[in-house]
Amino acid sequence: MCGIVGAISKDRNILPILITGLKNLEYRGYDSAGVAYLKNNKINIIKTRGKVNKLENKLNKNEISNIGIAHTRWATHGKATSNNAHPHRYKHITIVHNGIIENYEEMKNTLLKEKYSFKTDTDTEIAAGLLNYYYEKFNDINKVIKEFMNKVIGSYAIVIMIDNDVDNLYCLKKESPIVIGINDNINIIASDIRAITKYTDKYYTLNDYEYAKVNINDIIIYDKDNNIIKKDIKEYKEENNNNSKGHYKHYMLKEIMEQKETIYNTVKPYINSIGSLLKLPDLTKYKEISIVGCGTAYHAGLVAKYLFEELTNTRCNVYLASEYRYQNNFLSKDTLTIFISQSGETADTISALKLVKSKNYPTLGIINVKETTISSLVDTCLYTKAGNEIAVASTKAYTAQISILSLLVLVTGYRNKTINENKVLEVLNEFKDIDNLVTPLLNKKNTYLSIAKKIYKEKDIFYIGRGLDYYLSMEGALKLKEISYIHSESYAAGELKHGTISLIEKNTKVLSSATNTKLNSKTISNLKEVLARGADIYLITDENYKDDTFTIINIPKASYFIKPILVIIPYQLIAYYTALLKGTNIDKPKNLAKSVTVE
Ligand code: AGP
Repeated sequence: MCGIVGAISKDRNILPILITGLKNLEYRGYDSAGVAYLKNNKINIIKTRGKVNKLENKLNKNEISNIGIAHTRWATHGKATSNNAHPHRYKHITIVHNGIIENYEEMKNTLLKEKYSFKTDTDTEIAAGLLNYYYEKFNDINKVIKEFMNKVIGSYAIVIMIDNDVDNLYCLKKESPIVIGINDNINIIASDIRAITKYTDKYYTLNDYEYAKVNINDIIIYDKDNNIIKKDIKEYKEENNNNSKGHYKHYMLKEIMEQKETIYNTVKPYINSIGSLLKLPDLTKYKEISIVGCGTAYHAGLVAKYLFEELTNTRCNVYLASEYRYQNNFLSKDTLTIFISQSGETADTISALKLVKSKNYPTLGIINVKETTISSLVDTCLYTKAGNEIAVASTKAYTAQISILSLLVLVTGYRNKTINENKVLEVLNEFKDIDNLVTPLLNKKNTYLSIAKKIYKEKDIFYIGRGLDYYLSMEGALKLKEISYIHSESYAAGELKHGTISLIEKNTKVLSSATNTKLNSKTISNLKEVLARGADIYLITDENYKDDTFTIINIPKASYFIKPILVIIPYQLIAYYTALLKGTNIDKPKNLAKSVTVE
């Protein structure tokens, strides 16, 4: 997934605007960047490996242009190099692209037969070659784009500059998002309206197979049959998102510390009374709940699975979106499928959602960002109120997701009478008191730092647990590995002895949580098993468990609806302080992106 920007203006230098747009799109990828702009009637291209600020430094500060396109990349085809960075040019055609051309090899072979040759490893250069081939064949951009869309399989948001048509930008879209921002003296094409709200809050969106011709006076939008279509202008309502790091060293730490507010903001509309709680959708009309997501969102789904099945006797299956599409999911109209996504733009989750929608089965979204592909496609959308989550490693979005899922479980249990009124009121009170439950855990910096000092040089670390603690260990392990680059593996505590325990040796670090009275004694036995093989144990528990051979982090007693929040905060902060000691790029870890908009 990548970020694309294009701009054309009567009287403004668009280069700083392109750079600003790219910086706001780095959450989509940041391993290389580039810009193509018109100067003296020629299209100049500057590209670099690395982040957008490196591209900015390469650009001559006095450079001026009124039309250009730019790109920040997360490599899909071809290494993260300057040569593979976008924009890519083939003779008359210069483009930036977000997405994946799945049949690019077939297209490449077609072009090689036409004596085309290529200099990069990217699918995008093939796309530029194909557009150029059709341009030289038809010399009619409408026919070119229509033929391209007919032939190409995959996903794309593409902005095109054409050598001898320098007063226009063209953009086309299939599956990857694209908006066209409108202003009196500048029109801006981008992957996401939030990247350009500094210049406009009015914009068009394109649907799949639509394309547009954008110049300083006009924006003409076409459907896939080349008919001009009218579109309503949308207006983006900026949320009061404070995007600064404040006094924090990293966005991730800020976002972890914000959780006492963001959890409360998310649950506030539903916790005042049982009547408020009943505002949540009635899931009792479904025989089964399916949950689909990726990464941290998937882990949030697993927490919900445990709670739905253990506390409301509702069957709940959770699927990785990337697997879901290619397996039999026994879908039916009696199954509600819940899609969890912080960004609302994750390609795997979108594809899974489109599959369910194609059968007209019911869908519900739990999304953190408004006006996104997923939020626009689901039948019902419950927004988490975590605010802008800028760090690639998700923290406050996760606790917001599990909070709203907990309330969905609570109201389902109330409706199907598996949870009585007293218990419901007790949990609502816990959420009202979330600040007091969470704050002491956020303030244990020295505890987490001392653990980080003991683990940050490790190559391999294990996270184990049973039941809900097993699912929480998955999120704990993901947090550590994605920001510290330490190989961290989550394992069901009871499963270790069936093979993996062979990896445990003296000083192997094992982190765990034990918050389930039914299972804790077994978890402790499993910890003793690894202790007996020399492991160092770090245990998060709400039991007043005493054991000098373990490092214990005590968390307050709470219901199962709240426990996951209290367990994950130590895991988040241990990961943060470990990465801090390792000196990694905590907010933008290598190889990652905040929103994975390719499959
Ligand atoms: C979270 O720490 C990861 N960066 C990643 O796994 C993320 O949760 C996943 O890509 C799903 O993103 P989404 O919630 O925006 O759909």
